[in-house]
Amino acid sequence: MYPGMSTDRRQENSEALRESALRQLAAAESLLRQLSPKLVAELTTSMSALRELLATDDAAPEHVRAAVEGLASTTAGLTARSGFHGSQRGTTLRRAVASDYAAYVRLFADLDSLRPPVPYQDWVHDSRHRTLVVETAGQIVAYCAWEAYRTHGRICELVVEKPWRGQRLGERLLRAVGSRFREAGLSTWTINVKENNGPARRLYERMGFRSRSRWYEFELVWKSLAVSPDAGASTVRLKTTEDARFERVLKLAPGRLSRWRRDVHEVIVMGTRDRRGLPAGAAAFLPELARVNACYVNHSSALPDLLAALEPFRWAKHDKVTVFVDRDRKVASALWRLGARSVLTVLEMRGPVPLD
Ligand SMILES: CC(C)(COP(=O)(O)OP(=O)(O)OC[C@H]1O[C@@H](n2cnc3c(N)ncnc32)[C@H](O)[C@@H]1OP(=O)(O)O)[C@@H](O)C(=O)NCCC(=O)NCCS
Repeated sequence: MYPGMSTDRRQENSEALRESALRQLAAAESLLRQLSPKLVAELTTSMSALRELLATDDAAPEHVRAAVEGLASTTAGLTARSGFHGSQRGTTLRRAVASDYAAYVRLFADLDSLRPPVPYQDWVHDSRHRTLVVETAGQIVAYCAWEAYRTHGRICELVVEKPWRGQRLGERLLRAVGSRFREAGLSTWTINVKENNGPARRLYERMGFRSRSRWYEFELVWKSLAVSPDAGASTVRLKTTEDARFERVLKLAPGRLSRWRRDVHEVIVMGTRDRRGLPAGAAAFLPELARVNACYVNHSSALPDLLAALEPFRWAKHDKVTVFVDRDRKVASALWRLGARSVLTVLEMRGPVPLD
């Protein structure tokens, strides 16, 4: 095969050929991975439909025309997708500008969040500076919003418009935010995702995120709180001057309670003291969303009092309250006992910010 070539040289050549073949295979495989399996399946179906029609002499022209159009649109989609990775044809990734607000609101709806989108003024003056968008032909088709803390970054929202899903736009946005985190010296990032959101979890796992803890959302009918209050305990709205003491006793990070108060909605921060007057629990309630956003107790018996004290702040139209529970098992077990039902599980995922 290689006349006149030494055995060593021949071996070197075939090694190089092998390496180049493996590189080509890896490149082809990575291209395949960028194509949505759904689209590849669609293309195969469209092709066989057209082949079948062409093989039939008396196929109606409108059927043939429909099959040709179907195949053309699938092929166009496939071609657009194959240009991905930095050069995704016709798409631009850029920082959000004020006029993107309407698109942000439209895409935000796909998060199926209990919260409303950030109000216009707050978005324009604050959030949009931490938002990247993907634009194509003057349309915003995806966005990602983040926050950077001292030690880590957090992905707050990531949405890709339906027709653009499965084309790695989400990954492209995450990588772009990741390189900003790297530049800021942050090496880890976190993201919260609903446990049943398969596509999002697959994307995050591919990006190196791993599940770290679970958070739960419980739903409770206010009426089920008709419990006899503990005569010795007292629950009142917490004054900011009491924050530090409650944080210390309830083992919350310093400044946690003041962060609760900073929500864009009205927040009722309530604190329970036990018979001896010691802090026994604290909760943040958002009446507009009928939601207890944070809740900590040092004994599960403190919870009914704490929640019952929030009830007068509820809006008349809300007959249920949602309680968000993180690691605090005491809160979860007390809620079970009150007849609450678990409606959602959220995973907190964490991972190293990629180097590239
Ligand atoms: C989650 C989301 C941002 C992923 O964005 P994306 O650009 O589609 O991400 P990817 O292309 O990497 O696809 C992720 C997975 O979803 C699958 N997928 C999702 N929607 C798809 C679609 N319409 N067509 C084909 N595949 C789809 C992909 O096959 C992929 O799975 P795989 O890794 O096993 O191949 C996007 O699905 C979305 O906006 N969902 C609604 C909002 C949401 O849930 N956001 C996340 C909140 S934590």
